[in-house]
Amino acid sequence: MVNFLDSTFIKESSWKPDLFKGKVVFVTGGSGTICRVQVEAMVLLGCKAAIVGRDNDKLEKCREEICELVPDREDVCLAISNIDVREFSQLEHAAKETVDKWGRIDYVIAGAAGNFICDFANLSPNAFKSVVSIDLLGSFNTAKATLPYLLKTKGAIIFVSATFHYYGVPFQGPVGAAKAGIDALSNNLAVELGPFGVRSNCIAPGAIRDTEGFSRLSNPQYVKDLTEKIPLQRLGTKRDIAETTVFLFSPAASYVNGDIIVVDGGMWHTGTLF
Ligand code: HXC
Repeated sequence: MVNFLDSTFIKESSWKPDLFKGKVVFVTGGSGTICRVQVEAMVLLGCKAAIVGRDNDKLEKCREEICELVPDREDVCLAISNIDVREFSQLEHAAKETVDKWGRIDYVIAGAAGNFICDFANLSPNAFKSVVSIDLLGSFNTAKATLPYLLKTKGAIIFVSATFHYYGVPFQGPVGAAKAGIDALSNNLAVELGPFGVRSNCIAPGAIRDTEGFSRLSNPQYVKDLTEKIPLQRLGTKRDIAETTVFLFSPAASYVNGDIIVVDGGMWHTGTLF
């Protein structure tokens, strides 16, 4: 994988180049497509990033490539591997390692996800549990492990949700159930943590082209038909996710709490994915 963004993002976007200077973002799922572009945008705008996951080789490659985005800055990305988001103690360790290195965590992206296509009749209890444990329990564990640090910085959390659960999407039961739970968790945290200055929001990507999640679920004919039905007449881009992420973490969103920002070109308002 190579970086999705480059320094033109700083010039072309509306954001100040040093918007997140001195800040630290902690990201689960940071080497996947959606979270990866979120990390790239934050780093390009001055942030440091800790990317957390299971696969050491994948994370290390990701770390190296992200550092190449900003060659004039040192020490912008930390890869913390052998972390399974299903295990709270491992995330506690990762959060501590981040703070030991950089002294703070300002922003958290809970994005680690697992998914596959399977009909209910063939879905084993363990398969359901596996996806819900990675997506929903993993998001809870991520927020819980980083909360002590977010309270100190009056930081913000973004959960990566989806739009599946707005429809009745076949063969996507576990991920739909998990993402519905993530929305509920984020709303709960917005209300409980708001008084302490910590904001919680979700980004719900729709059909974002060239992402792992979308490529698993689509084929060329479906993409063509879908594109014609999307009100904005195009698939989403990774840049769309990057811009929304920057907005939600920026002071521009300082009064946005407990929201789910749907980035789908208006598709879910049409009432169908097919
Ligand atoms: C049916 C399956 C299956 C499949 C695994 N299982 N794959 N069942 N169809 N394709 C079942 C297994 O048989 C087993 O049940 C149970 O799930 C657990 O499988 P393991 O391989 O032991 O689990 P684990 O190693 O923890 O892997 C988790 C995983 C895997 C979710 C199953 O796919 C994974 O790690 N994925 C991570 C990468 C990924 O999925 N990325 C997608 C991100 S995109 P039994 O009963 O046999 O024990 C994304 C987008 C979502 O999530 C929203 C988009 C809009």
